[in-house]
Amino acid sequence: MLDPNSILLTPRNIGKRIAQNRFVAQPMEGNDALDHAVSERAIARYAKLAQGKWGVIVIEALAVQDDALARKNQMVISREHLSGFKALVAAMKEADPNVLVLFQITHSGRKSGKDFSRPTALYAPQEHEHFLDTEEIEEIQRLFIEAALISEEAGADGVDFKLCHGYFGCEMLRPANIRNDKFGGSFENRTRFLAESIPEIRRRLVNKNFILGSRISYWEGIKGGCGTAGVHEAIEHLDEMDELLRLMVRLGLDYVNVSAGIPGTTSEITRPTATSKWFYLHQFRYAERAKSIVGDAMQVFGSAYSVLQEAAIGEAEYNLQEGRTDFIGWGRQTLADPLFPTRLMQGEAVDYCKLCSGCSKLMVKQERVGCILYPAK
Ligand SMILES: Cc1cc2nc3c(=O)[nH]c(=O)nc-3n(C[C@H](O)[C@H](O)[C@H](O)COP(=O)(O)O)c2cc1C
Repeated sequence: MLDPNSILLTPRNIGKRIAQNRFVAQPMEGNDALDHAVSERAIARYAKLAQGKWGVIVIEALAVQDDALARKNQMVISREHLSGFKALVAAMKEADPNVLVLFQITHSGRKSGKDFSRPTALYAPQEHEHFLDTEEIEEIQRLFIEAALISEEAGADGVDFKLCHGYFGCEMLRPANIRNDKFGGSFENRTRFLAESIPEIRRRLVNKNFILGSRISYWEGIKGGCGTAGVHEAIEHLDEMDELLRLMVRLGLDYVNVSAGIPGTTSEITRPTATSKWFYLHQFRYAERAKSIVGDAMQVFGSAYSVLQEAAIGEAEYNLQEGRTDFIGWGRQTLADPLFPTRLMQGEAVDYCKLCSGCSKLMVKQERVGCILYPAK
C-alpha cells in the first residue's frame, strides 16, 4: 500500500489549477474513433481511467485535421466532433471531478499513414511525401489554435501542444529543418510556430486558467533531430532544447512533458522494454535537466516509468523529493491497470505492465489499442 504521506499523493499546481496528486496518465493512442469522432469505446476507456484518481490525464494525440492521421481511426479535434469531446470530458469528470483533463493536439506530418492519410514534409520530402508550403503551414497553425479553443469548449482543463516523437511539431523544431521561409533555418524560425500560436491561443481563450503545455523529445536520436547541434549531427547536444525550454517559460506555458526518441525509429528511447531497460535513466536525466532550467516557472512531467514496474514508486518518490521532476508519467501502465493510483492508495493488487509490447504491436497493425494481457481493462 502506498504510504498516505507519500509525496506522490501531494497536490501540486499546474498554472492556476491544482492537480490532486502527482500521477500523470500519459497520452496513449487508442485508434478507436468512429469516422474520426469520439467513440463509445473511447469514452468508456477514459471514464475507467478517471476512476483511477490520476492527478492529470492527457488524452491521446488528437489530429487537427482528417488528413494528418498516424492512425487509421485517430480522433480528429474539429468543431464537427465537439459533442463527442464534450461527452468524453463529462464522463471523466463524473468519474472523478478532481481530475485535470488535457487534450494532446497534433498533426502527424511525415508520420501520417500513406494508405489512409497524407504524409507531409517540412524539409527534404521523400517521394511519397507532400512538401508543405508556407501557406499550408499557416493553415495548420490556424487549426492548432482552433483545436485549443475547441478543447476549451469541450470542457478540457488544458491542451498539450505536441512537439515530440517525430510528428509535425517535432519536425519543425529540428536543426535539420532548413526550409528557407519563415518556418525554417534559424532557431527563431523553427520555433515560430509555437511562439506565435501560444500567445494567440491565450488571447482568445475565455478561461484564463486554461492550462497550456507541451510534450517534447529532448533528444530524438537521429541526424539533425531535436537535441543535436546541427543538420549532420546525431549525438546528443542539448543546448538548443534548453533554449526551447527558456522560450516556453517566456511564453508562459504551464508545464513541459519531457519525453525523448521517436516511436518506430528510436523506440527504445521513448519506451524502454525489458531488453533496453536502462534507457529510463536517460529519461530521468532529461526531466532533471528540464527542471533545473525552468525552475518554478513551469511544472515538469517525467516519462517512461512503466519499465520499472513495482520499483517505479520508490524511484518516483525519490525524483520528486529531490526536485528532479514535479509529476510522474506512466504510459503502458495505464493500459495494464487504469486504476493504478487508486489501487496503490487502497492497498489493492496492481496489474503491472509486463512490457510485452503487445499494445505497441496493435498500434503498428492499425488495430484498436489495449492491453493484451489484461484485456478486460
Ligand atoms: C500504444 C502506445 C500509444 C502511445 N500514444 C501516444 C500518444 O498519443 N501521444 C504521446 O505523446 N505519446 C504516446 N505514446 C508514448 C507514451 O505516452 C509514453 O511516453 C511511452 O509509452 C513511455 O512511457 P511508459 O514507459 O510509461 O510506457 C504511446 C505509447 C504507446 C505504447
